[in-house]
Formats: sequence, structure tokens, C-alpha cells
Amino acid sequence: MSQFSDQAPQRPPNPRHTAVVGLQWGDEGKGKLVDRLAGTPGVFDAVVRYNGGANAGHSVVVEGVRYALHLVPSGILAPGSLAVIGNGVVVDPERLIEEIDGLSARGVDTSSLVLSSRAHVVMPYHKAEDGLREELLQASPVDASSPSKNVIAAIGTTRRGIGPAYADKVQRATAIRVGDMLRPELLRSKLDMICGLKNSVFRALHPDEPEVFDAGAIAERMGELGRRLRPMIKDTAYLLNGLDQEGKTILFEGANATMLDVDHGTFPYVTSSNASSLGIGPGTGVPPQKIGRVIGVVKAYSTRVGGGPMPTELHDATADRIRERGREFGTTTGRPRRVGWIDLVALRYAAIVSGATELGLTLLDVLAGFDELRLCTAYATPEGRTERFLPDGFELAEAEPIYETMPGFCEEITGVRSFDDLPGPACRYVERIESFVGVPVRTIGVGPDREQTIERDATVAAGGLA
Ligand code: GDP
Ligand code: IMO
Ligand code: MG
Repeated sequence: MSQFSDQAPQRPPNPRHTAVVGLQWGDEGKGKLVDRLAGTPGVFDAVVRYNGGANAGHSVVVEGVRYALHLVPSGILAPGSLAVIGNGVVVDPERLIEEIDGLSARGVDTSSLVLSSRAHVVMPYHKAEDGLREELLQASPVDASSPSKNVIAAIGTTRRGIGPAYADKVQRATAIRVGDMLRPELLRSKLDMICGLKNSVFRALHPDEPEVFDAGAIAERMGELGRRLRPMIKDTAYLLNGLDQEGKTILFEGANATMLDVDHGTFPYVTSSNASSLGIGPGTGVPPQKIGRVIGVVKAYSTRVGGGPMPTELHDATADRIRERGREFGTTTGRPRRVGWIDLVALRYAAIVSGATELGLTLLDVLAGFDELRLCTAYATPEGRTERFLPDGFELAEAEPIYETMPGFCEEITGVRSFDDLPGPACRYVERIESFVGVPVRTIGVGPDREQTIERDATVAAGGLA
């Protein structure tokens, strides 16, 4: 195990590490990209999750076999690197163990998995609270896709307890960290206090069906799960900075996406963590200047799951065709994803916030067969036309997309492996995305399999804020 030295590093910072981060509303194909990068032997020594929890669903297809990862980094499928769950993740230990057992049963070696002792634990009452809050919000008459100025509709969460677990982290006294699962006496006394508080809130909110949490039973179960997880629990900030000091390379795997970032996304219709690349520092303890390459993952169109505004959303046969061809049903909840044209205004903003040095365009194959393709390049708002994104759910709900239209392509491209072999209109579409965003498209996904990827050596002029 590498050992972090307490002395200041002698050599200048080397931005050798890489991040993969979603630039839209999630499900851009981050898992496939991480698996592909991690699968190149000897390139990455660790693959690290830094945010989110089991709300993530990363599908990876290896030689025709599909895996769905939720808490375990997608790098686990490519042997040879550590798979690290960083301190910024909220971990549901029941689900983590289920996932580890599921992978082991399919022959995947999970012995390289490391879990931060400082990650926060998603407890049974967090999941109950997530569901209950959503039901109460749903009782409001507001349509979640077009929220009015004053009323908050349901967020449409995955009900995995993510928001309540992060809320307790910020509240501090009512939080449980992974390390606490290894200290039975502390765990029990914390849970006596926490369950007292939670039970009084639940009784008030749900007088008919009071969900009462039993501190003793929860402490016992968490202690059991802690004993099972003990061998993989470590101080991951020391581990990762130690790897850095030894000259090793780290791949950071984003979950959720920049438009769902709690500070920079379409608030309040976001998740509860910094899901942009900005979450890497706090979520791992590795300082941001160590990361030189940020791959922003972008679907060739837009999708969104749950509530909140999505200016380019479609409700017609085009949406149905994209949903069908792209298998746009959630990996975590199975919900049909909302579908629309690509939103370059949102994308340029996300690329800037996440510091994308290149784009990984995915699912281009899904767009084959349309006469024309539309790209949103500005919004019409009550204040006039703008090319600036509006990172606020209520303001964005009033924005209408202004489109540019380009010719489509009819040929199937799932077998194409070189940019020059793509139909001309597909090349123009890719080039328009990169010229608007100001960041080069370096890889293009033409199918779910690892191999269905076009590598490209592109450069474009630097972009900027509109
Ligand atoms: P993630 O959450 O960002 O990892 O994305 P998901 O795994 O939730 O959703 C992406 C879906 O698209 C998965 O079913 C992938 O197998 C699939 N996928 C990824 N890249 C491509 C691609 O280039 N073409 C097609 N057709 N499917 C892709
Ligand atoms: P991956 O990593 C798509 C969305 C939920 C909901 C909102 C808040 O697979 O790209 P939460 O349960 O986090 O409180 O829900 O965020 N959401 C995602 N949508 N992909 C994800 O992850 C998501 N993670 C959260 O649908 O709208
Ligand atoms: Mg997903």
C-alpha cells in the first residue's frame, strides 16, 4: 500500500490525472468511457468515484455482456487498477454488498475495491425520508417539467436516500460515516440520538403509518455490514495522494452530471452533490491542479430523468424514435428518459464549469435516419434572446430554444471506426458541436460496446463564455 509522506512534495505539481464527467443531465455514457480508458493496461493505477451514490447507474458492455454499476467504480471491470469509493460518495452498505456479490457471482474480481472511512452512510431512514418527501411534493398540483415561479414540484429523485444523506452530512451531528460502522459503541449511541429525532419527524409527517426506526436493530445491522466491509475501509485521501507522489495515475469517474450539480446545475432540480468535476477535490482530497485532462461526456442529443426544465425536450415521434434506438430507460430506476435535441447553450456552460479539455461524444449512432438534426444555439427568454445558460430551474423553465438545423444522415454507423468513414453530415454535426463549445471532440461513440468507438485527433479554437 502506498504511503503518503507528510513532507511537501519536492517536485512541481504534475497534472497527470484524468477525469471523466457528464456534461448534461446524466446517462451520457460515462461508464463505457471509463471502462474503455481503464481497460488500456498500465495506464491508470486507480479509478475513483468522488460523488453521488447508488443514484448513479453506469452501464458497461464488455464483449456483449452488460454490467450495471451503481456504487462500484466502472474501472472494476478492467483488472489491474484499484477501484476507490472516495469520501464524497454517500454509500448504502446494503446496496454496496449486493453489488459486490452480484459482480463476484459473474466472475468479476472485486478484491481491488477500497472504501473511504470518511464516506457518509445512507441509512434506512434516509431512503424512507427521500420517498416521503417526494410523495409530499408530488401532492402539489405543479407539473414538474414546467414549474411555476413560486411552487416547487417533486424533484423526481431516484429515492435512493441521496438528498437526506447529504443533508445529514452538512447537519453534522446526525451523520454516520463509514468509519463509524466499525465502532459499535459510538454507532449505538449516535443512533439512539438520531432515531429519536427521526422518529419524531416521521410521526409528525406520516401520522397514519408512522415508520419508526429502531436504533438497536439498525446499529446491529450496520455493525454486521461494517464487519463485512472492514477489509476494504481505508483513509483514501492518504492512499490517493500517496499514489500521486509515487508518480502513479488516477482516473476520476464522475457520477450524475454537471447539469445536476447542486451549485451549478438547474437548481432545485439537481442532485445533492457537486456532480461536475468541481466535486473531485472535496470528494477525494486530491487537489484540482493535479488533474490535467477532463473528458466531458456528451450525448449526441439530450436526455433527462425526473423533474425540472429541459428546454429542448420533445414529445413527438422523434422523441419516441430516439428513446427506442438509444434504449433510453434508466439503468437505476427503469424510468423512460425524457428526450430532446442537443442543447449547445447548456453544453458550453457545462464544459466551462467542469473545465473540459476534450469532449467524448456518445450515441451518435442513435441519430441515423433523421432528415435533419436540430441544435439549440440560443434561448428566447422574457428578457430577450441570449446565448448564456440560465443555471436556475425557474428561470430556465421560461426559456424557449432557438435552433440551428443541419442535414441528417441515413446510413447506420455502428460499424464505423474512423472519422473519415462517417457520412459527411455526421462529420459536420460533430464539427458544429465542437466549434460552438470550443472544445475538441476526441472520441465518438457509435454503439454500446467498448470497441464501438472512433478515436480522433482534433483541435479547435478555444471557446469562451457567451
Ligand atoms: P452513464 O450513467 O453516463 O454511465 O450512462 P448510462 O450507462 O446510464 O447510459 C448510457 C447508455 O448508453 C448505456 O445503456 C450504454 O450501454 C449506452 N451507450 C454508451 N455509449 C453508447 C454509444 O455510443 N451508442 C449506443 N447506441 N449506446 C451507447
Ligand atoms: P448517472 O451517474 C440521470 C437525477 C434524478 C433526479 C435528480 C435527483 O447514471 O448519470 P437524486 O436521487 O440524486 O436525489 O435525484 O437527479 N439523477 C440522475 N439522472 N443519471 C444519473 O446518474 C442521475 N443521478 C441523479 O433522476 O432527477
Ligand atoms: Mg446512468
